[in-house]
Amino acid sequence: MLQEQILSTQALIDMEAQYGAHNYHPIPVVLNRGEGVFVWDVEGKKYYDFLSAYSAVNQGHCHPRIVNALKEQASQLTLTSRAFHNDILGPYEKFITEFFGYDKVLPMNTGVEGGETAVKLCRKWAYEVKGVPTNQAKIVFVTGNFWGRTLAAISASTDPSSTRGFGPYMPGYELIPYNDIQALEEALEDPNVAGFMVEPIQGEAGVVVPDEGYLRKAAELCRKKNVLFIADEVQTGIARTGKLLACDHEGFKPDILILGKALSGGVFPVSAVLARDEIMLTIKPGEHGSTFGGNPLACAVAMAALKVVKDEKLAENAERLGQIFRQRMQENLVDKTSLVTLVRGKGLLNAIVIDDEEDSKTAWNICLKLAENGLLAKPTHGNIIRFAPPLVMTEEQLHECCDIIEKTIIEFIQ
Ligand SMILES: Cc1ncc(COP(=O)(O)O)c(C=O)c1O
Repeated sequence: MLQEQILSTQALIDMEAQYGAHNYHPIPVVLNRGEGVFVWDVEGKKYYDFLSAYSAVNQGHCHPRIVNALKEQASQLTLTSRAFHNDILGPYEKFITEFFGYDKVLPMNTGVEGGETAVKLCRKWAYEVKGVPTNQAKIVFVTGNFWGRTLAAISASTDPSSTRGFGPYMPGYELIPYNDIQALEEALEDPNVAGFMVEPIQGEAGVVVPDEGYLRKAAELCRKKNVLFIADEVQTGIARTGKLLACDHEGFKPDILILGKALSGGVFPVSAVLARDEIMLTIKPGEHGSTFGGNPLACAVAMAALKVVKDEKLAENAERLGQIFRQRMQENLVDKTSLVTLVRGKGLLNAIVIDDEEDSKTAWNICLKLAENGLLAKPTHGNIIRFAPPLVMTEEQLHECCDIIEKTIIEFIQ
């Protein structure tokens, strides 16, 4: 029986290897069910999910309110395209703009499309409002950024595994170091700079948290220089870092806000770009869009997903549990072992740094052991392990997870 089940996991992994492109390297578990903070593999083994599909499942797996919204809307109307109006797009647009405090929203699907939309909007604003000469607009990015895999996104990347073999890249970008206000000040001297696009915490780079005040100062500099501050909150947004938006920690509102992932609670791709009228109304009919962007299913799901975040106080929970998590990792791993050198993060977006070569296998091997012990996590960048459970976790569950992580790593050292 056991043999047969193990073969079935292996058979599914082999099938992916044979018929799918080899563009991912997953932890070798095959999942077939999820509920709240838990997922189960095809052998029935239960795991704590400590990745939450890269922070898309903040509301927990298969949240009943979100799934119900999906089912109800799915039996009513799923897609009209934007060739026609539908009766849920307007209510959704009103809801989300009021929820985040913006004039208008442009609905898209994936996070990277949200980023592309923001870049296009920023360029259009530069030419039509700021007065940058045609085709001269520049957007400033920071080293270590990640916003997806399209050519526009990788053109901003400093990670060779994203860029190598895919040139030529898109022009009009400038790169400066992250968390460096002086570098931003210098970059903004160029009058053709239209925007500064940044993740408030760099997720894929390994949960890199900038100094306190960096983002606020950057936003102030942008305002002074008539440059749009574009916040990529695809990973940090929607309660993940202990506030609705990570920018809320520094008390300012970005000019352009990009959301994705948890906007649908992980049900399917829903992204959104929010901005004020001066920016959003520069794009006219026919100049941007997507067949599925703003589809009725997405509108219903996103409204339900955002209501869950508010009703279940997920930001507050993330803030409280995040403090406990970092304290435990600090006291029981960083202070007591030489293998774990650092814990960092905000809310429930955290990472530990393993004292090893960046390309070593240690973090990967620890993740394999964690999986054996019933907790799923994955390294980002070799020696860093990100820990980002669904925000519906209870304090008791979090302590149980910290026990698993601590025990696994301490056993690993011995
Ligand atoms: C900060 C950030 N922006 C954008 C994206 C791209 O989102 P998607 O994979 O949905 O295109 C990601 C994905 O991890 C991300 O972390």
